[in-house]
Amino acid sequence: MCGIVGYIGSRQAAPVILDGLSRLEYRGYDSAGMAVFDGQRIQMRKAVGRLKVLENLTHGGEAMKGNMGIGHTRWATHGAPSDANSHPHMNAAETIAVVHNGIIENYIPLKKKMVSRGYTFVSETDTEVLAHLLDYYYKGNPLEAITKVLHRVEGSYALGILFADHPDEIYAVRKDSPLIVGTSSDGCFIASDVPAILKYTRTVYYVENQEVVRLGKDGMRFFSVDEEEISKEPVTIDWDANAAEKAGYEHFMLKEMYEQPKTITDTISPRIQDDTVVIDELQMTDGELSAVKRLHIVACGSAYHAGVTGKYVLEGLARIPVEVDLASEFRYRDPLMGEGSLVIVISQSGETADTLAALRESQARGYKVLGIVNVVGSSIAREADACMYTWAGPEIAVATTKAYSAQLAALYLLAIKFGLARGTIDSDRAAGLIRDLRRLPDQIELLLGQKEKIQRFANRYVGARDIFFIGRGIDYAISLEGSLKLKEISYVHSEAYAAGELKHGTISLIEDGTLVVAVSTQPKLYQKTISNIVEVKARGAFVMAVTNEENKPMEKVSDYCVYLPETNPYFANSLAIIPLQLFGYYVAVGKGCDVDKPRNLAKSVTVE
Ligand code: AGP
Repeated sequence: MCGIVGYIGSRQAAPVILDGLSRLEYRGYDSAGMAVFDGQRIQMRKAVGRLKVLENLTHGGEAMKGNMGIGHTRWATHGAPSDANSHPHMNAAETIAVVHNGIIENYIPLKKKMVSRGYTFVSETDTEVLAHLLDYYYKGNPLEAITKVLHRVEGSYALGILFADHPDEIYAVRKDSPLIVGTSSDGCFIASDVPAILKYTRTVYYVENQEVVRLGKDGMRFFSVDEEEISKEPVTIDWDANAAEKAGYEHFMLKEMYEQPKTITDTISPRIQDDTVVIDELQMTDGELSAVKRLHIVACGSAYHAGVTGKYVLEGLARIPVEVDLASEFRYRDPLMGEGSLVIVISQSGETADTLAALRESQARGYKVLGIVNVVGSSIAREADACMYTWAGPEIAVATTKAYSAQLAALYLLAIKFGLARGTIDSDRAAGLIRDLRRLPDQIELLLGQKEKIQRFANRYVGARDIFFIGRGIDYAISLEGSLKLKEISYVHSEAYAAGELKHGTISLIEDGTLVVAVSTQPKLYQKTISNIVEVKARGAFVMAVTNEENKPMEKVSDYCVYLPETNPYFANSLAIIPLQLFGYYVAVGKGCDVDKPRNLAKSVTVE
């Protein structure tokens, strides 16, 4: 996510801002910038790359004199990393500067309206529309201009705003994106997160949605979106800096698991309009979509597991043939791809060597490639013919969770889009599917609430030698990811098996007490999976079932059940994976493993 820092007080602002931004680097970013009022005008410096580039550009802030300013580290969402796309953004007269963390979901119509009003844009970002809107509504009263803009924008935002003719004030406001304000004996601060200002103060105020804060050298005032002044109580921070970076979570992986509801919302909301799916990034008409005869999904690791789920969902909803390949296999097997084939590569980092090679191989053979990518401006994002971003924000833990969930959400949207274009689903069915999609974030919250229960169960398997995951259909895809999560962070050996395949050999490994995790979310396969559970129970297995609340017969054959709320079977992976992520996490924690940085692993495998 982006990082915001602002300061007004007796100190020089630029060094305070740079120091604060450096403590937000864990949030991930690709560019940085600052705006400081120097007594006459707003000075702005910004640069793509690490914060060091901005520090060097401004000689550690010395080159930007002034005691009021705002700064930003950008995690690109709209527009690749570049100087022009970096924040702050300003109006043409350079009298207003704004930094933003979040997504303005209706920026395209707003941008069109501002262009029709004669405004020119210098960046590809959604944020720049805010600078011009503020310019349009500003008649000398910052609070009035801000509230008028807030009534017109949709989406998520945390904003820091400067007005050149109000040099003794900084304004801040948020909706859904994090923002705090702090006060000390030598000034006031705004920040995306506590670590940025802990060095200067532990007295902070948490800003609620659409509360506007006016920060002055001598203190702060708070206003509602209706411009009424409100009072707020300060909070004293007793965290240490390291804990604060993880927002109080023990590991980034747990923090990112808890970000999954927001990740799914951020990925689906901008692509759902009037109960249908709009994926402009595809740059394909419905005619072109319906002309696609086969999909080839290519990826590695968890992204591959998302692709396996994608196969079932796309074939089920859109009735289009789908092949799924491991990228390291695809690139050397001289794949047969006929006319009308479309390749979909999935990658969190957008830099995985095998996946990038598969993309290039496909393009060399004349096939169009769609990328489903998390890191904006990454190699795969830039080289794909079209790119559908998963707006999960930076994922710090090596073991993916929220990006994987966002990949699933992107594939669900694609399946609905293809189904509508090919006429295999009608608008009513699409509306029903979208309703189920919109319920997923709250349902995931509910499942995350079971973490203590899962932790107690996981503690029993800290010493396990082998753990098996079994399932049929989408449940097999879920088992693949559940097994990998366990393996890669706890170092416990595990295998995922198509439940119907066990009896063809592997069942010989089941001994007394072997844990078998049986995933059963597909109503049409409940009974079949129960039969497989009976088989492994007969050989002494201890069975943990992950199944739907309606599937009561499962309780009679399993030793431990985790129940999932009701959703469309095609979307079940998004729910079933939550207890499996928690299980793998707590086994690893119980073993004292380095959960965020497991041995031998890298966050992005940029070598073959
Ligand atoms: C996931 O937990 C693993 N860290 C790994 O399998 C990962 O999914 C794989 O390396 C692909 O990475 P990518 O999504 O960045 O391409």
